Amino acid sequence: MNSKQRNILVTSALPYANGPIHIGHLVEYIQTDIWVRFQKMRGHRCIYVCADDAHGTPIMLRARQEGIGPEQLIERISVEHKADFAAFRVDFDNYHSTHSDENQFCANTIFERNRDKGHISRRVITQAYDTVEQMFLPDRFIKGECPKCGSQDQYGDNCEVCGASYSPSELKNPVSAVSGTTPENRESEHYFFRLGDFEEMLKQWTRGGHLQREVSNKLDEWFKAGLQEWDISRDAPYFGFEIPGHPEKFFYVWMDAPIGYMASFKNLCDRTEGLNFDDFWGPDSAAELYHFIGKDIIYFHALFWPAMLHGADFRTPTAIFSHGFLTVDGQKMSKSRGTFIKARTYLDHLNPEYLRYYFAAKLGSGVEDIDLNLEDFSARVNSDLVGKVVNIASRCAGFINKRFDGLLAAEIAEPGLFSDFLSAGNIIAEHYEQREFSRAVREIMTLADRANQYIDDKKPWIIAKQEGSDQSLQAVCSMGLNLFRLLIGYLRPILPATAERSEAFLQVPAMSWSDLSTPLRAHRIAKFKPLMTRIEQPQILAMVESSKEDLEASPPPVTPSSFLTDDPIGDPVDFPAFSRVDLRIARILSAGPVEGADKLLRLTLDLGGETRQVFAGIKAAYHPDQLEGRLTLMVANLAPRKMRFGISEGMVLAAGPGGTDIFLLSPDSGAQPGMRVK
Ligand code: MSP
Ligand code: ZN
Repeated sequence: MNSKQRNILVTSALPYANGPIHIGHLVEYIQTDIWVRFQKMRGHRCIYVCADDAHGTPIMLRARQEGIGPEQLIERISVEHKADFAAFRVDFDNYHSTHSDENQFCANTIFERNRDKGHISRRVITQAYDTVEQMFLPDRFIKGECPKCGSQDQYGDNCEVCGASYSPSELKNPVSAVSGTTPENRESEHYFFRLGDFEEMLKQWTRGGHLQREVSNKLDEWFKAGLQEWDISRDAPYFGFEIPGHPEKFFYVWMDAPIGYMASFKNLCDRTEGLNFDDFWGPDSAAELYHFIGKDIIYFHALFWPAMLHGADFRTPTAIFSHGFLTVDGQKMSKSRGTFIKARTYLDHLNPEYLRYYFAAKLGSGVEDIDLNLEDFSARVNSDLVGKVVNIASRCAGFINKRFDGLLAAEIAEPGLFSDFLSAGNIIAEHYEQREFSRAVREIMTLADRANQYIDDKKPWIIAKQEGSDQSLQAVCSMGLNLFRLLIGYLRPILPATAERSEAFLQVPAMSWSDLSTPLRAHRIAKFKPLMTRIEQPQILAMVESSKEDLEASPPPVTPSSFLTDDPIGDPVDFPAFSRVDLRIARILSAGPVEGADKLLRLTLDLGGETRQVFAGIKAAYHPDQLEGRLTLMVANLAPRKMRFGISEGMVLAAGPGGTDIFLLSPDSGAQPGMRVK
């Protein structure tokens, strides 16, 4: 080793304990795992910890919906998560839970130290309260009409139609997504973390080389907007830790979640000789601390977390490494297209090393999104790994096994080529270190091309047929296998299972980076077994198909937990469900303004004898004169909604982003009021 041994603690974000691991998550865990494996291969002490993020309202409600206790739910999910990670060879040194004694201890410590220094304040706030469920409602559990554009069924914090963000109290006609009833406003005292106290410290820290450039720029915007106090408490009922000295008040899930990094490490220290908590977390720690996260959770990690740590006299992170989001075939993962692929579903069809390789080939050190293009995926894996890398071994091993009883030549045939491969290793190592995995892969594949070129030039299959050519056959094939060994060594952080099988075949112990410089000479190898097979198109199709089936097997209930995590448009509606919607042709008999509602028109609709009153948010787009007499489409069996100005007995169908850009649908001529849409 050229440099001295580093002490490195690495984390990935803690996945929520209310759902399965999917391939989007895996971008992060695979990225982190590759980096950690690389550091370990370099001989550093690198410790990788993670945990399930087990607290919060969605988990509490999900457990309730399943009729089990939250502890039972998080226990089951923990088992599933660990099995998925293990199958993808994500090799944590410890996987713990935020619902643990260690985490409670660390959370209390961080809270109390900040409180004692005056960084925690208390004040009464007003919040939506569900009187049926007897609970305060998080923003995402309140739905209603957007105060800006009037679109219905929008969340309490932002509108998916017009993109406006607002506070839940501004939402019109709010309903609780838990009980369906109208929430009332209630007061309650909350605890706040005074982020503003840390403005100077954070300004320095965020520009101190701890963040990617694009992330620092984003933070500048947040500083300009001003650092707000952060509400860190929640009222009972809540699944979390009670705040010390304040029964019935709990830490908000995002308060104790990052502390889970510490807790997982503490749990490991408590059962590992020679591993000392303070060496890694104490204020004078000389160890390195890195958090790998997705770009959606930067605010928590780059502002709250360093401030909380600093306020409690712990060290701050060495760096936060954020990555972008995964798309599949250029689009957001979707259940209806079968591209919302769970880790487990993938494993049912494909070798995890393929995905590890593909992600590595796509990942850089930035925060750009990465795309899994399913066609490119199989083409790339087949041509690079099967066609180039594994092929080298299969082209050379047969001759060594059959003709030389597995024994490699005593000398390296082309020392110049071997040393070119070795010096490329320095560049590759630098790319790994900088998380430029795609560059490392490109470098390695260039070497693989050279190794194949060498074999193509020497043509061992021709040498093998010539009399008295044993020595040169052995020399060429041994050279080829030594080049193969270097390639596998370089790919080892990405392909741990293939590397292990290769090590078994080469009969060498687990390779470290420094082992690579010594070639195998007069060394006996084992019989060659195929190391990796090609991806066949039917496997991919089957995986996509069963990702669709996953959904049919268990139709997603319209519950808070599913609308938190899922794209509602992405969920297919089966035909029986669709046919329950009574779509009818309607004639607009009259249209007029609604007192006290500046976005709405009151429509009187004729359904072929029957008349209905409907309120529609189309006032900005249409003058009543344009509407009277025309035909349109309506949902005739929508449950009547009581509004401030009367009852709305259905819904007219319109398309568009909203405001003046909204277009009422109309049938072709000949349609009659009352006709059903078929
Ligand atoms: N529980 C929080 C993290 C707490 S860390 C103290 C959380 N959990 S999560 O399950 O939603 O996400 C876990 C990690 O996976 C996050 O870093 C998130 O950015 C990442 N990803 C989740 N979906 C993803 C994609 N589709 N693509 C890439 N990364 C994704 O957030
Ligand atoms: Zn809106």
